[in-house]
Amino acid sequence: MNKETVVSGIRSTGNLHIGNYYGAVKSFTQMQHEYDCFFFIADLHALTTHPTPQDLHGNVKQVLVEYLACGIDPEATTIYIQSDVPEIAELYLYLNMNAYMGELERSTSFKDKVRSNPDNVNAGLLTYPVLMAADILIHKATKVPVGKDQEQHLEMARTFGNRFNRMYNHDYFPEPYAFTYAKNLVKVPGLDGKGKMGKSEGEGNAVYLSDTPEIIRKKVSRAVTDSGPTSEFQEKPEAIQNLFELMKIVSSEDTLNHFEEQYNKMAIRYGDFKKQLAEDMILTTEPMRVRINEIASDTDYLSKVAKQGALKARDSAQKTIKEVRELIGFRAF
Ligand code: ADP
Ligand code: TRP
Repeated sequence: MNKETVVSGIRSTGNLHIGNYYGAVKSFTQMQHEYDCFFFIADLHALTTHPTPQDLHGNVKQVLVEYLACGIDPEATTIYIQSDVPEIAELYLYLNMNAYMGELERSTSFKDKVRSNPDNVNAGLLTYPVLMAADILIHKATKVPVGKDQEQHLEMARTFGNRFNRMYNHDYFPEPYAFTYAKNLVKVPGLDGKGKMGKSEGEGNAVYLSDTPEIIRKKVSRAVTDSGPTSEFQEKPEAIQNLFELMKIVSSEDTLNHFEEQYNKMAIRYGDFKKQLAEDMILTTEPMRVRINEIASDTDYLSKVAKQGALKARDSAQKTIKEVRELIGFRAF
């Protein structure tokens, strides 16, 4: 049977938070026995923010540990570090030749970065979606488990793949699509009452898989709320809606219904609500936290996983690069 190929990655810019888990990693773990799966740590992408060598290395290790702690099985899948596969950088170079300034400048993530970091608008940031397309196309993947925020990048990956196919008159790269087992692509909100949970969204906004129960309790207790509903069945303001969304993810249906009812009756006590949310977050992250601590100290195991993953990923990548070079016209005499 010809299994479909799945590729996904997470930048090595820090610990995984529950947004990464429910948005992307959980789907990976559900797909690994069904598809031909490649999961990688995007350390080349992380260079756009100029980490120190120590930080880069430490973060790559941390993401590897946390991937494994979440249940990604290195026997069933290929787990690797992006920079171990130089073929990705080669494909990125080829795709860059057919990626246009206008379309790159229009990408929402690029515009966001320019706004939030005007002092570091580097070319790597502009061509970030091209490198991401190379990550996916190098294995000719069709399914990409990611959160809602990555949808536009997937559209760009399809554009670059299709353009390559047209240019060389060959139906070579298949079209990759964002994938999730949930009904829709997931966007996990943060605790700051505004947008999504994210590493770069400010202190206290994200709950990390490695956070201790005390830290989780503290972060949730500080989450933004208001003075409470003033009429029955009142529409929830964004900050409150976000906390309910989080509860929907980590708590049981009964718990959620209970607090919905309390809110609708104007009887909700945010203190109790947040306490319950924190305890349910602790419960869902507990098994991962335990495993993170176990795996982190096993350097031999980590090194074995990374070496084995690099070999398997390069094997697949080399096949593609060989064919791509042929198609482009780099041919032996
Ligand atoms: P961050 O936004 O914290 O820097 P990344 O950009 O490295 O995280 O995201 C890695 C993966 O996790 C991507 O697939 C992304 O879609 C997913 N992801 C990140 N934050 C969320 C979120 N709040 N909700 C759903 N998915 C998310
Ligand atoms: N851009 C993704 C993010 O910020 C990470 C990523 C890089 C990725 N390359 C990828 C995700 C390829 C899926 C497939 O979250």
